[in-house]
Amino acid sequence: MNIVIIGAKASGKSTFGKQLHKILDIPYMEIDDLVEENYKKESDDCKTCKEIFDLIGEDAFRKREEDAVCSLTDTDWTVIITGGSTFMSAENRRVLRNNALIIYCTCDSDTLMERVQNQTGDSKGISKSVFLKWYQEDIALKNDVYAHFADMIVDTGTLTPERAAMQAKETIAQQIAVRCTAANTFGELIRVTSFGESHGSALGAILDGVPAGIAISEADIQKELDRRRPGQSKVTTPRKEADKVSILSGVFNGQTTGTPLAMIIYNKDSDSSKYEEIKNFFRPGHADFTFYKKFGFRDYRGGGRSSGRETVARVAAGSIAKKVLAERGVTFYGHAIEIGGVKAQQVDYQKIESNIVRCADAQAACEMVKAIEAARDESDSVGGIVQLEIHGLPSGLGDPVFAKLNARLIYAITTIGAIKGIEIGAGFDVARMRGSTANDQMTADGFATNNAGGILGGISTGQPVVIRVAVKPTPSISQQQRTIDINGDDASVLVEGRHDPCIVPRIIPVIENMAALVILDAWEIQSRLHPGWNNSEKK
Ligand SMILES: Cc1cc2nc3c(=O)[nH]c(=O)nc-3n(C[C@H](O)[C@H](O)[C@H](O)COP(=O)(O)O)c2cc1C
Repeated sequence: MNIVIIGAKASGKSTFGKQLHKILDIPYMEIDDLVEENYKKESDDCKTCKEIFDLIGEDAFRKREEDAVCSLTDTDWTVIITGGSTFMSAENRRVLRNNALIIYCTCDSDTLMERVQNQTGDSKGISKSVFLKWYQEDIALKNDVYAHFADMIVDTGTLTPERAAMQAKETIAQQIAVRCTAANTFGELIRVTSFGESHGSALGAILDGVPAGIAISEADIQKELDRRRPGQSKVTTPRKEADKVSILSGVFNGQTTGTPLAMIIYNKDSDSSKYEEIKNFFRPGHADFTFYKKFGFRDYRGGGRSSGRETVARVAAGSIAKKVLAERGVTFYGHAIEIGGVKAQQVDYQKIESNIVRCADAQAACEMVKAIEAARDESDSVGGIVQLEIHGLPSGLGDPVFAKLNARLIYAITTIGAIKGIEIGAGFDVARMRGSTANDQMTADGFATNNAGGILGGISTGQPVVIRVAVKPTPSISQQQRTIDINGDDASVLVEGRHDPCIVPRIIPVIENMAALVILDAWEIQSRLHPGWNNSEKK
């Protein structure tokens, strides 16, 4: 992201921009300087922009200006000060507006006129009066164009440009924050905002929209957090976090008050030392490279905000949705159906929580554990497939177009890291079926099959919702891997630290709880659209 300063000649752009550079401690560059530098490189002759303009004429000068602007396409986190007319070209605007905050420095034309009074004429050597007339028209024209494209307009007339920069500081910081925000809030009526980083002091969530009067205790939340907790078995990361939750607000006398529920989980066992050594390298399979490209900096301690540890907050929030839904007869069964190539052959829901990989087939579970251990012993990792089943849903949840229940669930689940594939019902198999097989035929007793996976036209049918999720092998492996450093140079990296050799067992509660947030949200929306719908509907 860049901050691009535009404005008419004498509007104080440079002074304003340089002041911003000082306050924000980010580099600055003037496009006029670039034009001059490029000219010097080519002709080995030092000339100012005005001299270049006079020498080569307006058209050739504008071309040079355009070349200088184009060379900025790779620039990130810089205050860019434009020449007075640079932004008048549509081509220049296209480049400069890309991922930038555009600040227009403007002041009343009398002040501008006063500032240029001492100039003898423009670069073509015209008389002062002609120049001033041209300038006045130019101010009006630029105002029309620049005001339209500006994200912020600052007055550099009543205040000095330096003071204007000091005053604009807060608004600029807010504008940057809005552009950099990583969409930390999820949901419509049931809204969760998560916060925290892997190696920060704490993580947590604020859940809003939960009706008043629902019995909730820390133990309810803890039960779900314990299923996601690190160090819970020999096939999860050994990082020792109790993940003990505290409810800060929204519950009184054991019941929700209908106000925001704030929950916090402190980090107790973060060890950043291993990350210090590799802080200048991008770990393959991680968000390091993309995060750096997006924000221009990164929290290298365990991936910061993009760490799987962030999902502790979603589980805390989702556990409340899950509890509310349990009282409405909805049950979530997440289970591993494949790990490291080992497939489950049968489904016994009672077995899911009785083995460390959360597989509904006890025998396959033993083989899955062996596959994980074998990969770990070879300093490698394995992935797998999770099946999520949501039982007890009434029909009528979800909306027909943009808020289809399947779309909402897919969106929610794919916001979780490490998920690379998702299918609903018969999923990709439908591509190989005929309509006569794929259709779930109906009888007075209900649907004969469930290839639709419990959702038709974006709305729940009342059958179990069935979703399968492909989870990639853990990216952090203790092997030398090829990468690049922050300068883009080839490098080799060995990722040490404590990791899950397979993410599947711990991602299962995350998937369930994200789905619970979606279902409760859809339920609350439906209850407002059609109050009493669930009383009259057959399940
Ligand atoms: C619950 C959970 C635990 C995870 N544990 C680890 C881990 O221990 N080590 C690791 O390298 N990645 C882990 N990840 C995966 C990375 O966070 C994720 O792959 C990475 O941020 C890149 O995102 P992407 O795979 O979605 O592209 C975990 C993810 C989740 C959801």
